[in-house]
Amino acid sequence: MQTIQLGDLTVSRVGLGAMPLSIAGRPDDAISVRVIHAALDAGMTLIDTADVYCIDDADLGHNERLIARALRERAGGAQGVVVATKAGCERPGGAWTVNGSPAHLRAACERSLKALGVDCIDLYQLHAPDSKVPIAESLGAMVELQRAGKVRHLGLSNVGPHDLDAARAVATIVSVQNRLSPWDTASFDNGTMAYCKQHGLVMLAHSPVGGHGGHARCADDATMNAIGARHGVSPYQVCLAWLLSVSPLLLPIPGASKPSSATSSAGAAGLTLTDADRAELARAFPAVRA
Ligand SMILES: NC(=O)c1ccc[n+]([C@@H]2O[C@H](COP(=O)([O-])OP(=O)(O)OC[C@H]3O[C@@H](n4cnc5c(N)ncnc54)[C@H](OP(=O)(O)O)[C@@H]3O)[C@@H](O)[C@H]2O)c1
Repeated sequence: MQTIQLGDLTVSRVGLGAMPLSIAGRPDDAISVRVIHAALDAGMTLIDTADVYCIDDADLGHNERLIARALRERAGGAQGVVVATKAGCERPGGAWTVNGSPAHLRAACERSLKALGVDCIDLYQLHAPDSKVPIAESLGAMVELQRAGKVRHLGLSNVGPHDLDAARAVATIVSVQNRLSPWDTASFDNGTMAYCKQHGLVMLAHSPVGGHGGHARCADDATMNAIGARHGVSPYQVCLAWLLSVSPLLLPIPGASKPSSATSSAGAAGLTLTDADRAELARAFPAVRA
């Protein structure tokens, strides 16, 4: 699989979004381990997680523990695998809330190190800005964690150019993780993708085939299906291959709760779309542009 640099780390152009393995409706842990192994066996070397990928606050770290288990149970272990996690959210009673306070981020980092079973987190992302805490203050705490050797690289999630300016004034940022797909184009519309290009930041596209609750949009899309039929591949693979071709800095992290979905997503990196395919997609989704 093609690779891309995340700071000094080399990762696959398509990563596994591990969220569906830990939220409501999740598969049994044994199946989830198979999903992670399928992704790695197919060439993915980046796994995206978060402390809050779980059912509720009593289950915090479920996804991180699952990844640690999958890596322990795999021949070769964690060798060559980059795990990106996040902090800055909470799950009281199963709700999703934001907490970007330095005290929360420091405590969350200790929990994530333990759940992942590592001394240093490869990529630590602020899950979302907290309107009650200046982003520079949240990042300041994350920079301290980095200086203490607990975090290698820093990233941001669910942000726009203004947040990035404020964060980059106090920290070295290597990546942005925003919702980005042919059906979710805000990062193109509001200049975030252009900002990434200007500053060489990797864009981890979350929900790249339409999202946890919305991926039927991809499965049902006429353009994706027509092009997929020509290549003998699925509409999901067309969607991912197109995102890969839109920008060399785009790194989709499709979710999977079945091993076959992870294998299929990794396979998308091997699909080359023709100029005619790309023109057809650009006509159908004009907001998707580098
Ligand atoms: N930073 C944030 O705030 C944020 C928010 C949401 C998500 N994320 C991250 O982004 C990742 C991806 O987002 P997502 O999981 O919500 O949405 P998604 O990747 O758009 O869609 C996920 C679902 O689509 C199906 N799918 C994906 N690729 C497929 C393929 N090649 N073939 C067949 N089916 C395929 C899978 O179905 P099956 O379940 O049937 O396998 C999967 O559960 C998450 O796992 C998480 O790591 C981050």
